[in-house]
Amino acid sequence: MASLWSGRFEKAMDEIVEEFNASIFFDKRLYDCDIAGSIAHVTMLFEQGIVSEEEKNSIVETLKEIRTEIKEGKITFTVHDEDIHMAVESILIKRLGETGKRLHTARSRNDQVAVDTRLYAKREIREIIENLKYMEHVLLEKADKYHDKIMVGFTHMQHAQPVTIGFHLMAYFQMFKRDIERFEQCFERTDYNPLGSCALAGTTIPINRHRTAELLGFKNVTENAMDSVSDRDYILEILSDASICMMHISRMAEEFVYWNSQEFSYIWIDDSFCTGSSIMPQKKNPDMAELLRGKTGRIYGNLMQLLTVMKGTPLAYNKDFQEDKEGLFDTVDTLNKSLVIFAKMIEKTEFRMENIQKHLGQGFLNATDIAEHFVKNKIPFREAHEIVGKMVKYCESNNKDFVDLSDEELQKIDARVSRKSLPDLTMEGCVNGRVSYGGTAPVEVKRQIKAGRQWLEGEQDEL
Ligand code: ARG
Repeated sequence: MASLWSGRFEKAMDEIVEEFNASIFFDKRLYDCDIAGSIAHVTMLFEQGIVSEEEKNSIVETLKEIRTEIKEGKITFTVHDEDIHMAVESILIKRLGETGKRLHTARSRNDQVAVDTRLYAKREIREIIENLKYMEHVLLEKADKYHDKIMVGFTHMQHAQPVTIGFHLMAYFQMFKRDIERFEQCFERTDYNPLGSCALAGTTIPINRHRTAELLGFKNVTENAMDSVSDRDYILEILSDASICMMHISRMAEEFVYWNSQEFSYIWIDDSFCTGSSIMPQKKNPDMAELLRGKTGRIYGNLMQLLTVMKGTPLAYNKDFQEDKEGLFDTVDTLNKSLVIFAKMIEKTEFRMENIQKHLGQGFLNATDIAEHFVKNKIPFREAHEIVGKMVKYCESNNKDFVDLSDEELQKIDARVSRKSLPDLTMEGCVNGRVSYGGTAPVEVKRQIKAGRQWLEGEQDEL
């Protein structure tokens, strides 16, 4: 079958070339974006007096029919269709003859593919943001439930200071909040209409690009035709934002993996998110958390792939750009699924306080509290740090805890110190005292949750 562009060719494409060249098997998922672009385009062509009303009407009607048929799986694409733009246009021409041939006036596949992917990207960004908001909602609820439940806070994977579980969860809330903001900003930059840029230089035909922008719901129109058909920044930005978001997911997933280990046993992951072993009957593995961590690899890979595809390409369009789609599709699918699965998993995860509490007595978690207490009693911080360091060393060598130290032992370490000069050493005392803005005290965590809820409620669905 001759291609729509075969006029200057004497020979058909070699079979293997045709297959290598085709993008239809993956870009077919852009069919409704492609048809939306064509409907807006032909509507504008009619309004500008470029096609007649009957021509416009039959093109729009037939495009809608084609859309329904593709949706219902009634159309099977073959390698001869090349890509979704050619496929839809060929069907249109087969059905309408000469009238169908008027659609591609003042348009090129170069601006067509740009408009399709921008429409698609806008829809997917909205979906990602929705899923992120669901994740935020789940985190707020869980954080509220555990706002005053104490666990070990780590640095360098070493016991550092006691924190509340709600506080720890709210740290992730902040990360995902920034992810939402990043995707919202990405949406703004994607919201530009490239249609009418044509091959690279615009057109002599009197089109109205602002009108197609309006019809397609784009806030803005791209300024420079050459940039419009060469730009893939908006895809790179989605891939970058997705990589950062997935890195956050992966860090939290890693915590779930080790919290779920026998050594920690901090959490109980619902059975519906775990799998068993084919040989070891006792196993309940946190596979979903591991997969979330593992899938981060492909998301980073897709970003690297497109950055590399784009880096040496001269202006304007190059076929290299066809390589932008599979990574984009894979990224949005993976990220959306990951967000939904992880949010559901967090929702069903409970913390095992009896095990968490067991660890609180280890590692002198209240050491900083003692030093800060000395500071309040006018000892310079560096000296206070030194004294508590000596107390830790003494306790470690004598297998004691701070509370076991007698006045005599303390005075030997430093004359300024006695049992009376020690603060409330309980974990509750330590946590309750950290009321600095952003600190881990339950009242402060409550404030963070309240601010988080206000922000989430205020997030308009305006995109
Ligand atoms: N399938 C192509 C792509 O995805 C569409 C644009 C083709 N343009 C062209 N001049 N060959 O990039």
